[in-house]
Amino acid sequence: MQAPDCQMVIMGASGDLTKRLLLPAICNLGASDLLPKTFSLIGVARTDYSNKAFDEYLEKNLNEFVKDSEAKKFGKVLFKNAHFVQGDLNDPKTYKKLKSELDPKRNHLFYMAVPPQFFLPIIQQLGKAGLVKEDEHSGPFRRVVIEKPFGSDLDSAKKLNRDISEILREDQIFRIDHYLGKETVQNLLAFRFANGIFEPIWNRNFVDHIQITVAESLGVEKRGNYYETAGALKDMVPNHICQLLSYIAMEPPFSLNADAVRDEKSKLLRSVQCLRPEDVLRYTVRGQYEGYRGSPDVSPNSNVETFVAMRIMIDNWRWAGVPFYIRTGKKLPVRNTEIAIQFKTPPSMMFTGTKATNLSPNLLLVHVQPEEGISLRFGAKVPGPVVKLGDVNMTFKYKDYFGSRPGTGYETLLYDCMMGDSTLFQRADMVESGWRVVQPVLDVWRALKPRQFPNYESGSWGPGETNQLLESEGRKWRNIPS
Ligand SMILES: NC(=O)c1ccc[n+]([C@@H]2O[C@H](COP(=O)([O-])OP(=O)(O)OC[C@H]3O[C@@H](n4cnc5c(N)ncnc54)[C@H](OP(=O)(O)O)[C@@H]3O)[C@@H](O)[C@H]2O)c1
Repeated sequence: MQAPDCQMVIMGASGDLTKRLLLPAICNLGASDLLPKTFSLIGVARTDYSNKAFDEYLEKNLNEFVKDSEAKKFGKVLFKNAHFVQGDLNDPKTYKKLKSELDPKRNHLFYMAVPPQFFLPIIQQLGKAGLVKEDEHSGPFRRVVIEKPFGSDLDSAKKLNRDISEILREDQIFRIDHYLGKETVQNLLAFRFANGIFEPIWNRNFVDHIQITVAESLGVEKRGNYYETAGALKDMVPNHICQLLSYIAMEPPFSLNADAVRDEKSKLLRSVQCLRPEDVLRYTVRGQYEGYRGSPDVSPNSNVETFVAMRIMIDNWRWAGVPFYIRTGKKLPVRNTEIAIQFKTPPSMMFTGTKATNLSPNLLLVHVQPEEGISLRFGAKVPGPVVKLGDVNMTFKYKDYFGSRPGTGYETLLYDCMMGDSTLFQRADMVESGWRVVQPVLDVWRALKPRQFPNYESGSWGPGETNQLLESEGRKWRNIPS
């Protein structure tokens, strides 16, 4: 089904996100016939482009970042008619110019592809200019997409939510977390709740522990400026990792309605045990890779972490006593995002006296990137007269069954904004629950400088204490092949 007619305004149209992800996503949507013929694009930034120069800029990026030929074809036509508003987003005059480009009878989607300090001032200016006033029951929509990071701690996220709510209703706000655009993450709901065999064992009686790994092999590259204000904990945990955690651990929602799903996710995040300061020292690890301090725009004495590992416990009937171990960082051996659900080890008495002494527990792996799929490890008898066991895997890869479509992960999200479906977007309370999970860690880490930074080599799995975090509880990190 095609999205309704829409004028999309990209604030920050000359930036990295726009050229690498938003424009390709729009073109892919157009090629899939999911955009209406009337869809149009307006860019805003300070760079001095005429409409023609903006079209040329778009076309240059089209050639570089759009792979699919149908998508390229769509982009060429769309970009010919794109408009550009040159101006500073702090200046009310910019919004006057923008207003003159907008047709009040049409739907408007404003995308904040700008640094986070602009989110609120832009929304306030849009409000003052009367550009986001919407009749709740009829008339064209006025929606705003907000990028991450949403706030820099719990208090600032709460304040941002409060201030924005003075101008926009919650259903006009689309707080994006691009991890939710990934098919595997969306498939978690189908996998867990559309199959009869998993739900009965999805709890503390059968699951020993869960590991969530979000590993990057690259360093900060040219994003030092941003990273110095964030670090691995703020950059990944309150948003992406809390989203993965909530999908994997939430209770079944009563329907797929946006609020039904978001209520359950929110409930789950509110059940995460709050770490006391002594728990932070015991159950978290921070690291910085060798060489980070020499990256562009990074302080030579930086104490910003590029790696974090921590243990999270969930205080509810389903998960009490089951640790969730998370690790994320830069310059790790592989680029890989996965969730590993390790089931309890079976009793091995009956194999005593045989060669089958090394029973492995069942392991269910949800592969999020780079490959998308699911695999299950189980034990099997190795053929032959002697009783010996081996591990085997049943693997499902998305591309084998459903083909692989060109995509950035933003296609579904953009489409949903236009359709007004906020299931995959963070509601105000969810954002705050995510920050609540990490706030005790932020407080302790702020008060205590790291003992020794840098503390892990590029291409390793983080500092040594990362292994101790699990080994002290008789467990091991999964060895992810590179
Ligand atoms: N890049 C990514 O891969 C990525 C991924 C996830 C989330 N994000 C989020 O997306 C947002 C944008 O990131 P980005 O990487 O695209 O940043 P960027 O490359 O620095 O682009 C920022 C954009 O904002 C415009 N801008 C900055 N100050 C302005 C002002 N005063 N008035 C008008 N325009 C202004 C810049 O244009 P001019 O300089 O021409 O004014 C540029 O178009 C950030 O919130 C980021 O956290 C980015």
